[in-house]
Amino acid sequence: AEVVIVENKDAAGALVAEEIIALIESRPDAVLGLATGSTPLPVYQALRTRISGVDVSRVRGFALDEYVGIDPAHPESYRSVITREVVEPLGLDPQRIHVPNGAEATIQHAGEDYEAAIAEAGGVDLQILGIGTDGHIGFNEPGSSFASITRVKTLTEQTREDNARFFDSIDDVPMHCITQGLGTILRARHLVLLAFGEGKAQAVADAVEGPLSAILPGSAIQLHPHATVVVDEAAASKLK
Ligand code: F6R
Repeated sequence: AEVVIVENKDAAGALVAEEIIALIESRPDAVLGLATGSTPLPVYQALRTRISGVDVSRVRGFALDEYVGIDPAHPESYRSVITREVVEPLGLDPQRIHVPNGAEATIQHAGEDYEAAIAEAGGVDLQILGIGTDGHIGFNEPGSSFASITRVKTLTEQTREDNARFFDSIDDVPMHCITQGLGTILRARHLVLLAFGEGKAQAVADAVEGPLSAILPGSAIQLHPHATVVVDEAAASKLK
């Protein structure tokens, strides 16, 4: 992967936002791969200030993942987060923005349906990624197959602890999720992984320089011909 070390989150946000604007200008129906969590927020923030004058009416998007077992209307469902942080502020067409469906009634075929929708859109042009402190990308926790497709996974205790800050207590963090697989993510044409802070340093080092291993899901990016890793000094601190 190409590693870009930036001064701070705002610089990272600006850099990735410029890349996304250029993509949309060259391809008005570009397909964006959207991440949730804290890491991509500076990108979405930077896009807000740069998007006016850009025709986004045909932009399409696919979120990486969703919790299973919370109401889609819950403020911390990834459907809600994507609506609040991306669709509304950027003025995207909500019909063109997809989030995996974590509803129990349709969960059996939700993964396959999502894969089919991505394929029908012609695949993802630019996939934004964060990384978990346990090394996950999407919610592909350690032990995920590099060939995996969108499916239900169990969140690790570490991830539930990390994400408890979005909920009233850790007991409210769902146990399960539906996530694009590592195989799905690797099919995107450009991967842009962001990470900030010391807490991500080991996960970044493992992803960029570690052995290719299902135990280090982030290491899957080493198989991708066009992966960019945008990190601050702290997140880069364990790179050789
Ligand atoms: C989010 C996702 C996760 C997060 C990761 C880091 O859609 O798939 O992989 O990117 O858990 O989360 P933050 O950015 O909150 O540290």
